Amino acid sequence: MRKISFTNQKGGVGKTTTTINTGAGLSRLGYRVLLVDMDPQANLSYSIKINSGRLEKNVYHVMKGECDIRDAIMKRESFDLIPASIELSGAEMELVNEPARENILSDAIEEIENEYDFILFDCPPNLGLLTLNAFTASDELIIVLQSEYLALHGLSKLMDLIQIVQKRLNPNLKVEGIVCTLYDQRKNLNREVLGHIRDHFGAKVFNTVIRDNIALAEAPSHHKTIFEYDGNSYGAEDYMKLAKEIRNGH
Ligand SMILES: Nc1ncnc2c1ncn2[C@@H]1O[C@H](COP(=O)(O)OP(=O)(O)OP(=O)(O)O)[C@@H](O)[C@H]1O
Ligand SMILES: [Mg+2]
Repeated sequence: MRKISFTNQKGGVGKTTTTINTGAGLSRLGYRVLLVDMDPQANLSYSIKINSGRLEKNVYHVMKGECDIRDAIMKRESFDLIPASIELSGAEMELVNEPARENILSDAIEEIENEYDFILFDCPPNLGLLTLNAFTASDELIIVLQSEYLALHGLSKLMDLIQIVQKRLNPNLKVEGIVCTLYDQRKNLNREVLGHIRDHFGAKVFNTVIRDNIALAEAPSHHKTIFEYDGNSYGAEDYMKLAKEIRNGH
């Protein structure tokens, strides 16, 4: 069983798209997959359509201790999902006096983790308590970088946080890899940035690069994964390749 957080405090770099479609890819490879939406924006939940009737039991209620984690799990045909809702934005403040508040998610996940092969956490675009909970509950991090100018900007802050978590909260945590997304090979800048990222991080960078592909942007509005929406797209090809690379270990 592997627990992986997809992270970058920078917004709009492809974290949610990568969490969904890597999860969908792994489930197509035959693995039991659970996705956990840790972002109050709840983009992951909406992207694969949630039955709003179930929203009263989501990751917020689990973290507040108001519901059993099993009651928050939505079973889907391919993978399972623990959704989020906007209420999660209050969790940061509401849990401030909770003892061991960084461990709440980790403790809850422990109950069910043996029922899955992969548990994937979609982190919000900041380094607050929700991200800390995801890092504490994970064994692995995958950093999602957009192949754009300033891709590495702010990354030292993320690396500092990872070190602190490793030291104080979760000594098992490791950076499994770095995935570059929204890559347009026609753009010199994208090529240059990718080269720069590879120079900087070497073998940590996944061989798979996620290309800029309109189908990936369209699929969420149809509440579909890329495999359901357009199985012949570059997006489907790239995310299946990434899922295999993750499965094989990096
Ligand atoms: N490879 C891609 N090709 C084309 N569009 C993409 C690609 N990856 C992501 N997108 C689109 O870019 C936007 C941002 O992607 P996404 O929501 O996955 O980023 P994020 O890092 O999760 O954002 P946030 O920080 O707000 O949570 C979305 O509209 C998404 O559909
Ligand atoms: Mg997101």
